[in-house]
Amino acid sequence: QRPLRLAIVGLGTVGGGVIRLLETNSALIARRAGRPIEVVAISARDRSKDRGVDLSSYEWVDDMTTLAAREDIDVVIELIGGSDGPALTLARQCLAAGKPFVTANKAMIAHHGLSLATIAEKAGVALKYEAAVAGGIPVIKGLREGAAANEISRVYGILNGTCNYILTTMEKDGRGFDEVLKEAQDLGYAEADPSFDIDGVDAAHKLSILASLAFGTELDFAGVNITGIRHVIAADIAEAAALGFRIRLVGMAENGPAGLFQRVHPMLVPMDHPLAHVDGSLNAVVADGNFVGRLFFQGRGAGDGPTASAVVADLIDVARDEYGDPFAMPVASLLAQHKADAGKR
Ligand code: NDP
Ligand code: HSE
Repeated sequence: QRPLRLAIVGLGTVGGGVIRLLETNSALIARRAGRPIEVVAISARDRSKDRGVDLSSYEWVDDMTTLAAREDIDVVIELIGGSDGPALTLARQCLAAGKPFVTANKAMIAHHGLSLATIAEKAGVALKYEAAVAGGIPVIKGLREGAAANEISRVYGILNGTCNYILTTMEKDGRGFDEVLKEAQDLGYAEADPSFDIDGVDAAHKLSILASLAFGTELDFAGVNITGIRHVIAADIAEAAALGFRIRLVGMAENGPAGLFQRVHPMLVPMDHPLAHVDGSLNAVVADGNFVGRLFFQGRGAGDGPTASAVVADLIDVARDEYGDPFAMPVASLLAQHKADAGKR
């Protein structure tokens, strides 16, 4: 079988994890993908950086904008980050050139997912972003494929591993916010700019993607009402515990008669609710469907291993030519249908 040949752009926490996973599980991945997956080219900012993995057998590319036109590369994986800038340019170029594109970049998908999906639709290729929401939890596949036959009324959960790690560690051992944030950064959980985590923006990116998938509505990041955890102090956590609650950063979206409601904020969660027991870097997503009932997805929401696992699952889909919903996002035609259906109800 002809191998699936890739380029990986971005070799930090997630990029390094993807390379380690592809090397460690290569035989198993080839079996499941139906063909070998072969890294051809890699790119990042600093060629001389020690990344803890041997990269000498891969071609280093300084100018990532050359990748879209290369015939010896079948798929490009973007693990740089940032809603605009080089990640977005690369995505547009690759999709327009007919290359499937895999990304973990929730900021880019939340801001530009619809326009990228439209380019992908036109070119007839896949835009895959399982790793963009809730790290290793297959929640995009779960909603798009597993719950595909359901009307979903509400989707909510713990969507940021850094914040959950901070809140639960402060609660357990009483350490201060800044010290625990630094630890989350060292563990590879935080964004390059951690204010995206602690101010709730990262969770809002993810929530807007989930809402779009769950309800078939247009991505609306600007419509998310956001409060982060920057001002939560140890005394708040202790007071909440005394009243029988835990503090969690929760993202919640509903699509009701009044329209789309999307909110990210620190919430008092009763001790007997499953979200109160989601600890450390774990994430959880709850979705209510009209036939399936309540779905509860839980797993590690950040870090190299879980995130790489989601990226490579997308690659395996590309290798098999299994794209799920071929266009991955509700593009113009699907949005028009959704509006017509909503008008009839
Ligand atoms: P890192 O900061 O660890 O890595 C980013 C990589 O991108 C680095 O290798 C860096 O190069 C490279 N890079 C940055 N800017 C440029 C540029 N202008 N040109 C070329 N290369 C560039 O980030 P992560 O691995 O943590 O995150 C990557 C993506 O995955 C982000 O979109 C993030 O939101 C997402 N994500 C992260 C998760 C996590 O747990 N960390 C989980 C889920 C998604 P160099 O190393 O040379 O500096
Ligand atoms: N910074 C993100 C988090 C990474 O802490 O959840 C996973 O998307």
